[in-house]
Amino acid sequence: MRDYSSFGQLLAHLARLYEGEGRAGGDQAAAALNAAVSNLPKNLPEPYNYLPGMAERALERDPHPDAPIVAAALPLIRWFHVSDSLGSIGAEMGGRMMVCELLGPNGMIFNDRVRVGLFVQCPHLDYVTRSHSAEETYIILGGEAFWSSGGAEPELKTAGDIVFHPSGIPHYSVTREQPTIAAWRWSGDISYEAYACTG
Ligand SMILES: [Fe+2]
Repeated sequence: MRDYSSFGQLLAHLARLYEGEGRAGGDQAAAALNAAVSNLPKNLPEPYNYLPGMAERALERDPHPDAPIVAAALPLIRWFHVSDSLGSIGAEMGGRMMVCELLGPNGMIFNDRVRVGLFVQCPHLDYVTRSHSAEETYIILGGEAFWSSGGAEPELKTAGDIVFHPSGIPHYSVTREQPTIAAWRWSGDISYEAYACTG
């Protein structure tokens, strides 16, 4: 049987990060993460990684000080192709991103009210403009990317930065030489049906 202690430590770490966000949605995500830590399932889905080394590479580049906690849990994570869940993202683009849902309706641990996961974007990828009903907060864990919301000029975001998207706001992320890795959370209307690529 696998040792999932590092997975629990990752969830507790993300709870601390989202407690620091200062929004009700962040508090909700933190509470769900802490509840999962205190009742960690014995059998989690099998790990799966279709871009070996990419998350590690992103994490090594200007990492958050607690990056070793994330790194230790990476071998236990079940990543999925974004295009499998979000049909409006094609296979080519989806194959250059890694997403995992740690908590959520499709998560490694079930939760019907929030989604919390990790996101990796490969270098040289323009992740097109998208919007969704869910309120969203990314917390950058390593690497670098340029982020834009509401039509504003894209800004460089690195480890420790918080990127907040209110419900329905169009946003995009662009990587250059480096990949990026971030935590993400959704609250409110968290259905994938309410997600659309718009340009
Ligand atoms: Fe988003």
